[in-house]
Amino acid sequence: MARRQARTVGTSIALAAGMTVALFAGSAGAEQLSDATTDPITIGHRASAGLAPENTLAAVELVKEQGPDLFEIDVQLSSDGVPVMMHDATLARTTDVEEVFPGREGDLVNDFTYAELQQLDAGAWFSERFAGERIPTLGEILDHGYHPDLGIVIELKNPADSPGLVDVVVDELNSDPRWNELAADGRLTAISFDLDAVRDFHELRPDIPVMGLGGVPQSDAELEAIAEWATSWGTNYRTLDPADVDRVHEAGLLLNVYTVNSPAHMEYVIDLGVDMVTTDFPGVLVDLLAGAEPIPDANGVVISDAVGDAPGDDLQPEHGEHVVLTNTTDRPVNVGGYYINDAVINTLVVGRGYLIPAGGELRVYTGPGTNVRKPGDSRFYNDFGRAVLNNGGDSVALFTPDDTLVDIYAY
Ligand code: G3P
Ligand code: CA
Repeated sequence: MARRQARTVGTSIALAAGMTVALFAGSAGAEQLSDATTDPITIGHRASAGLAPENTLAAVELVKEQGPDLFEIDVQLSSDGVPVMMHDATLARTTDVEEVFPGREGDLVNDFTYAELQQLDAGAWFSERFAGERIPTLGEILDHGYHPDLGIVIELKNPADSPGLVDVVVDELNSDPRWNELAADGRLTAISFDLDAVRDFHELRPDIPVMGLGGVPQSDAELEAIAEWATSWGTNYRTLDPADVDRVHEAGLLLNVYTVNSPAHMEYVIDLGVDMVTTDFPGVLVDLLAGAEPIPDANGVVISDAVGDAPGDDLQPEHGEHVVLTNTTDRPVNVGGYYINDAVINTLVVGRGYLIPAGGELRVYTGPGTNVRKPGDSRFYNDFGRAVLNNGGDSVALFTPDDTLVDIYAY
């Protein structure tokens, strides 16, 4: 990353100013930011989803310390019309809904009143360290996320399940002058997979740039039509055809890619010349762009492989899906109690007392098997009843028992 200038807080502000031009200037902006030698805009996904429970105020507080240009959050409506932060259609993965409202874990977010949603814990599922986090409103996100160097990306999530979502969000933006300050600075964007919703938003607030999400449309005419109202397009980098980077730019759109979590994959998308990178680990991306060590507490134990799609059944005894840890140092390292989170925070642990000799490996399995501790064949089995690593690509992050991030690997 030597070709990029190290960024200070000052240059970060300059980038935000540049972004104003880019986000509002249509194709001229795309030309400005499409050069692969220019740093992309950095976006914290669900605020800071790799290190704190997604879409919570804890994740917003953390993203302010990490220094990306913007952070993204997902907005839906409660049944009584309050804009609340939640990614999934249901509350099952990221709250304790099963205990608080038994039998309603399959209900939609939008089936719960705001008062009911406030009874849920939205942090303990991630870690007991975050127990007590509540589901925030869009107004609370502004209260906690408003910061001179930071912008906000509002995803209109599942609008079909939240009738009136666009109007409610626009009302919220009209209700507090700080939103207008963000908009005037080019630090506010609305995005959605639902192109009708994000286009409706654009009609109501044409001063705020919008982004469509999804696979890159394969018709140039369709891309050009989108560029009539959208400023950018956001897509999954794993399915992005590198040739489509130029197609998106030629249509006059900026290109955002999500969710790019490992330093190696960050380098890959930056070299493609994308304009914005969305990541669960915004601090890692910011440090990488600055030419600093992207994982400052790396200790030489790395994730050298992850097999999400094992030949045969992912949960077959002894040989199912697994992550490989390698000790690249010249001394043994005790990795007992280390843990590995995937992108949606399924957690694989390493048993107590496991040492990896210098240069050695340990395979950490999701499913069942017989634990083995011997040099050259060291294995630990989590004995889960379900596979967790995505077969089509995932990211896995390695933490020490005291929650220090030491590596991120993506496949
Ligand atoms: O930034 C776009 C990204 O947030 C879209 O994917 O599933 O995380 O909402 P998802
Ligand atoms: Ca999102």
